[in-house]
Amino acid sequence: MKSILITGGAGFIGSHTCLQLLQQDYFLYILDSYVNSSPKIAERLDKLLCQINQKLRDKFKFIEGDIRDESMIDGIFKCSINENRPIEGVIHFAGLKSVAESVSSPSLYWDVNVGGTIKLIRIMEKYSCRTIVFSSSATIYSENNRSPLSEDSEIKPYNPYGQTKANIENLLKDLYTSNDSCWRVINLRYFNPIGAHPSGLIGEEPRGKINNLFPYLNQVASGNIKELKIYGNDWPTIDGTGVRDYIHIMDLADAHCLALNYLIKEKKATLLSINIGTGRGTSVLQLLKTFESVNSCKIPFRFVDRRLGDIAISYASNDLASSILSWRPKRNLSNMCIDGWRWQKLNPYGYE
Ligand code: NAD
Ligand code: WQD
Repeated sequence: MKSILITGGAGFIGSHTCLQLLQQDYFLYILDSYVNSSPKIAERLDKLLCQINQKLRDKFKFIEGDIRDESMIDGIFKCSINENRPIEGVIHFAGLKSVAESVSSPSLYWDVNVGGTIKLIRIMEKYSCRTIVFSSSATIYSENNRSPLSEDSEIKPYNPYGQTKANIENLLKDLYTSNDSCWRVINLRYFNPIGAHPSGLIGEEPRGKINNLFPYLNQVASGNIKELKIYGNDWPTIDGTGVRDYIHIMDLADAHCLALNYLIKEKKATLLSINIGTGRGTSVLQLLKTFESVNSCKIPFRFVDRRLGDIAISYASNDLASSILSWRPKRNLSNMCIDGWRWQKLNPYGYE
């Protein structure tokens, strides 16, 4: 059994990825500060594992801590050696992800996302652990690109959050080309992950101001918010509303397992950047209508001005994910809406 460090593993994408990894031959050290998640995720994971297979329950350990605390990360690697299961790879989710917040607090985003990654890398080097899957984002692509976006589309982030992601990719590239190179790196560039695990036991729990469409839509459907404001109906798209590449969180979690397995098997130095999206664009109105139809509910909405920083269309070319990782999305928009709504109904106040 191989040990993996999952930073930010209590978060939306991390928690769903941990669940999938725990069903494979991995032991997980899961580090999180809980700045944007709940410690309750541990008991939800345990409950799910009980339902799947009791034996899986003792394959993970949560550690509360900040990715910027080098001595704490060092302690996790030391502990893994003392427990005779040295960490052999890292999936690095820990970070801040609000575009709007990154504009108002750029130094915080550079400190956590870039500074935190540097701390992590320094410790990985110390313990000769040079295998990492990194949570990158489609936000690094230039707004002048036309979709479908491929991995060699122009990279030109247009907000501090995207800047931090692009700079971390540059750091990982420098490690790969460094002379002691035996770094094995995959940057997964996610588009718009939504939905929840079909059990409804784990899902997305946005803290503070809700910025993203899907969680906002769930709040309107549950009556907590009066109506959805649609940012612009004059975009050059099929119905005038913004088009994005929504991907089921479980498909994204599966992509991480395939990426990690690829690197663990790979012996030579590796640097890959791979888009993870469905390859299909969906408009705000199309998502809203699908949600209403499959969940038999009504979503009041009105059109308002465009949101600063938005672009009309963004969706992925996922050919590389298919050819290199043999990954294809298995769930559709209806699954995303049904699973997301089930999570919302069963957990109206999140993990509490
Ligand atoms: P999330 O906020 O749910 O998860 C991130 C986790 O990292 C949280 O549990 C949070 O508590 C933890 N964290 C934040 N700062 C930390 C710190 N200083 N030390 C330790 N833990 C810390 O977000 P998510 O949607 O699961 O995203 C995970 C990663 O994927 C992030 O890096 C994000 O930038 C990236 N990403 C997300 C999306 C998306 O739409 N959700 C898209 C592209 C990329
Ligand atoms: C989707 C569409 C909005 C809210 C963001 C980050 C990106 C990544 C994914 C981290 C757009 C419209 C939204 C609302 C609306 N996160 N919308 N009313 O902007 O594509 O990407 O999340 O990496 O970095 O930028 O996602 O969900 O905010 O917006 O009309 O209340 O929904 O205009 O067309 P986005 P989103």
